[in-house]
Amino acid sequence: MATIYFLMGVAGVGKTTIGKIWAKQLNLPFIDADDLHSDSNIEKMKRGIALSDEDRWPWLTKVHSAAVAEGSTKGAVIACSALKAKYRALLVGGLPEAYWFFLDANKETIQDRLKTRQHHYMPASLLESQLATLEIPEEAIHIDTSLSLDEIILFMQQSVALRNARIGVIGLGIMGTAISRNMAEKGWQLSIYNREVPDKEESVAKHATEVYPILSTALAFNELTAFVKSLGKKQYIFMMLPAGEATTMLIKALMPLLSAGAIIIDGANAFYKDTEMLQKQLAIKGIHLLGCGVSGGEKGALKGPAMMVSGNKQAFEVVAPLLKCIAARNGSGNSCCKYIGSEGSGHYVKMVHNAIEYGEMQLVAEIYSLLSIGLALDDASIATIFKQWNETDLESYLLQISGDILATKHNGAPIVSLISDKAYAKGTGSWATQEAAKLGVPSGMFTVALNTRFLSGNLAVREWVQQYIGVINKNMNTSPIDISLELIEEVYKLVRIWNHQQGFALIMAAAKEYGWPTVSLATITDGWRAGCIIRSTLMDILAAGFTTTDNLLEIDYCKRVMKNNYSSLVKLAANSMEAEIPIPIISEALQSILQYKQKVLATSLIQAQRDYFGAHGFKWKNKDTDNFQHHNWEF
Ligand code: 6PG
Repeated sequence: MATIYFLMGVAGVGKTTIGKIWAKQLNLPFIDADDLHSDSNIEKMKRGIALSDEDRWPWLTKVHSAAVAEGSTKGAVIACSALKAKYRALLVGGLPEAYWFFLDANKETIQDRLKTRQHHYMPASLLESQLATLEIPEEAIHIDTSLSLDEIILFMQQSVALRNARIGVIGLGIMGTAISRNMAEKGWQLSIYNREVPDKEESVAKHATEVYPILSTALAFNELTAFVKSLGKKQYIFMMLPAGEATTMLIKALMPLLSAGAIIIDGANAFYKDTEMLQKQLAIKGIHLLGCGVSGGEKGALKGPAMMVSGNKQAFEVVAPLLKCIAARNGSGNSCCKYIGSEGSGHYVKMVHNAIEYGEMQLVAEIYSLLSIGLALDDASIATIFKQWNETDLESYLLQISGDILATKHNGAPIVSLISDKAYAKGTGSWATQEAAKLGVPSGMFTVALNTRFLSGNLAVREWVQQYIGVINKNMNTSPIDISLELIEEVYKLVRIWNHQQGFALIMAAAKEYGWPTVSLATITDGWRAGCIIRSTLMDILAAGFTTTDNLLEIDYCKRVMKNNYSSLVKLAANSMEAEIPIPIISEALQSILQYKQKVLATSLIQAQRDYFGAHGFKWKNKDTDNFQHHNWEF
């Protein structure tokens, strides 16, 4: 079949250069759509006037005719800006097969290129209008033009090979179905599989193809062998099953059915050690397992999640066009699918993402307590405050949804007032706490957030305390405490930074301990700027900051907020304690900062105690020697 390859993007992005090389590679004719403009269009552009739809239509029709002519013979490579979806629809009409490559670059890079471009009628000033007109084609294969030409061509080759393959998706729960729909919407051919459990999970995959029109062309299976067979020689499988036993069992069942070169992408919230164990077992057969942390919930999975991938780098490169295509894009246009490093580092980073998420969620809950108990505000007023804060540097997805939640009523009552306060946790927060302990990294923020969930479910102790020490009923509080809205806002900013700081410190410690040299906080945070649950303006600030340091505390914004807002933290914590408003994560932030402030900590006594009862040794302060000493304690 004759194929037309379209390379699209704004002027100056490199369509002609890349298109010519690509055409040569495939031995196809190259058509530069710019050569088909009418004299009047060229005149207009030379004068720096943007073309209208009316100007572009006859030109696009000409490009389309050229595409049809070539399509009926050998195929061709066409470089064309094709800025709008309707232009692209016109261009592909009646073509046997068309591939779209979208060349992506940031504005500054393109501007620089346009300035140095010679012999072209398009002035650099037209870039603004092109960018404003551009409707980014989600279905196209996005090419990062900051790569070298060789890398770009390799990526294009891999993308085309992948596009021709049938992608397998295993597990059609909420997330797996959303991921399948996302892939299908971007034009990937799918085989989808779900296990068969009588009375519980019956014909789930088939059902999905019936319920979602976009999945109607996907092949549906409830039998693993037939599913794998349908993939043909290129076996690329995205798995979205509950982490742990379900994932392990299925991978074991898949193993004999797959051949060397197969790539499995595990999108579950898996424990990184499990991922590494499976990677090793599969490697014996030449099968690659990529651990892939996926964040963003159902909506993210459907519209574009953040993805943190690890494992064999070459295997990642093979499936990168698929993953990058379905992932979210951040404000700079970068894909939020990131290669993190080897082994289980992707799932590790997702685990820390969740730990930060636990801290952020706990903090919003405490801010809610302070506003509702401390300032005696109702849920609707708090929702309004959250909305206002979301217009500032406090903006975050979690703050936004918390505002939405507080504005929601159920049967006439604020919905939160009707929801049980027993909070659950699945595993990632607990693993992060254990990991931090293993590596000796302070993790008070997410440990406290995790414990708060456990405490909420410890009903026996809750009842005991309420019986013997006393009950506090939020609604009984009639005298608001001496804290202002501004004070709460300042503390909120500071504690967020402290929470993020502990998460990033854990990632860096793990990268060092486990030998993951490619782990980069700049890359990770660039990938967390969209799609994921902890996306926020703070993340944008951190992503910019991490391009020059790996230490969050060296980032100017963080330094400023921590320094300026510290006294508010002390005041707020003291007043809230007095009023008996529980603020565990805020207190933890204060307690840990307070300890760091001490020139000398009371831990000298701990060292002495250790030596007293166990001869564990201590080091003298202000002594040249770094050796452990033992004192002969005689009593
Ligand atoms: C995400 C979430 C997602 C899920 C967590 C919740 O990034 O999309 O983190 O992975 O909501 O598993 O974890 P808990 O059930 O432990 O709160």
